[in-house]
Amino acid sequence: MLPKIKNISCHKIVNSRGDWTLRTRVLLDDGSIGIQTIPEGASKGKNEAFYLPVQESINKVTTIINDALVGEDPFNQGQIDRMLVEIDGTPNKRHLGGNSILSVSLAVSQAAAASRKVPLYKYLAELFGNKKESFTFPTPVFNILNGGKHANNGLSFQEFMVMPAGRVPFDEALEMGVTVYHNIENVLKKNGYDTEVGDEGGYAPEGLTPHTALDFMKEAVSSDFKLGDQVFFGIDAAADSFKRIITYSIDEEALHLSSAGLADYYSDLVNNYPIIYLEDPFQESDHKGWARFFEMQGRNLMIVGDDLVVTNPRILEKIIPKKLNNAVIVKPNQVGTLTETFEFIRIAKEAGMMVNVSHRSGDTAEDTFIADLAVAVSADFIKSGAPARGERVAKYNRLLEIFLHEKDKFEE
Ligand code: PGA
Ligand code: ZN
Repeated sequence: MLPKIKNISCHKIVNSRGDWTLRTRVLLDDGSIGIQTIPEGASKGKNEAFYLPVQESINKVTTIINDALVGEDPFNQGQIDRMLVEIDGTPNKRHLGGNSILSVSLAVSQAAAASRKVPLYKYLAELFGNKKESFTFPTPVFNILNGGKHANNGLSFQEFMVMPAGRVPFDEALEMGVTVYHNIENVLKKNGYDTEVGDEGGYAPEGLTPHTALDFMKEAVSSDFKLGDQVFFGIDAAADSFKRIITYSIDEEALHLSSAGLADYYSDLVNNYPIIYLEDPFQESDHKGWARFFEMQGRNLMIVGDDLVVTNPRILEKIIPKKLNNAVIVKPNQVGTLTETFEFIRIAKEAGMMVNVSHRSGDTAEDTFIADLAVAVSADFIKSGAPARGERVAKYNRLLEIFLHEKDKFEE
């Protein structure tokens, strides 16, 4: 007889920002256990699933959700997620909370994988319908300088990232990220900047501008690698955080730009630095700005929707015909269930969009789900902050473990 869900319990733990979050445990009647903790963003999209206060969330998980799911089949992920969505009954999961729902949805998949005695990424690949014998690995995107809502340093853009070129084996890509991270620390010190870090582990000194940040990155990469050949740059502008009523304000360069002016500003950066990736370049509601920029630069770089699409399949379907972006961020907690996350990824891939699976700025070292998810769906990229700080490296280290495991098997 196949095991059923026996009990769902939940308590609060502290995340990387010192905020409380959920730790949910799903127990099957064969003794298998799945545990899932939940990340939280600071620069959230307006259409994300609702984040219920933690104590309320614990109450929902241990009463309503537990009562509904006990006795259910943990291998029928679609049915579990449908039940959660139906019991919630609101468009943005306000009743049960996106955080409560996601913790159960993911913990059920972990318990099912444990019961089958297969690694999580293999179980997720099967659920997703990825039947490949050998798994492809996402290219890691390392956030080495922090600004925006992740630091209090006056730097408008949220994330400055280095990207090892694709086709580099994962272990080498990680090595490259680590080297550049140490190099940029030295470059900052040499130039008299502090080396405190932001929420995602990247350095966050005061006094940087987008141009000085990119210049320091150039120096940090060039001493060990070929810039624009082995290593490229990416930016998550998270434009909502520097949008004022009318203008986009890059105060550190005394710029107050219209949407068209900001598009020109980005084009200038793209012409002067090896930038291949630009995330949330405009506010999520500024579709005109997105469309204009996509027309200008859509063939030259990845224009990535995060707040724009919030991992929501229904929103993505509406965005695709507007031609605003050619890549998406995937954050399961933006939408709230594994099934909807899979659906979003499927729609993005069918539309020819690149997929970047992402952590959140408030995260936990206990949670490495996105590493297994990225491998399972053959995501193009994974974004988990700097190659430093426990909650950031936990994901990279889990990928390394999967990579070495798969490689050994390959060599057998
Ligand atoms: P958040 O930021 O996790 O604080 O929302 C991450 C991002 O914008 O990519
Ligand atoms: Zn983002």
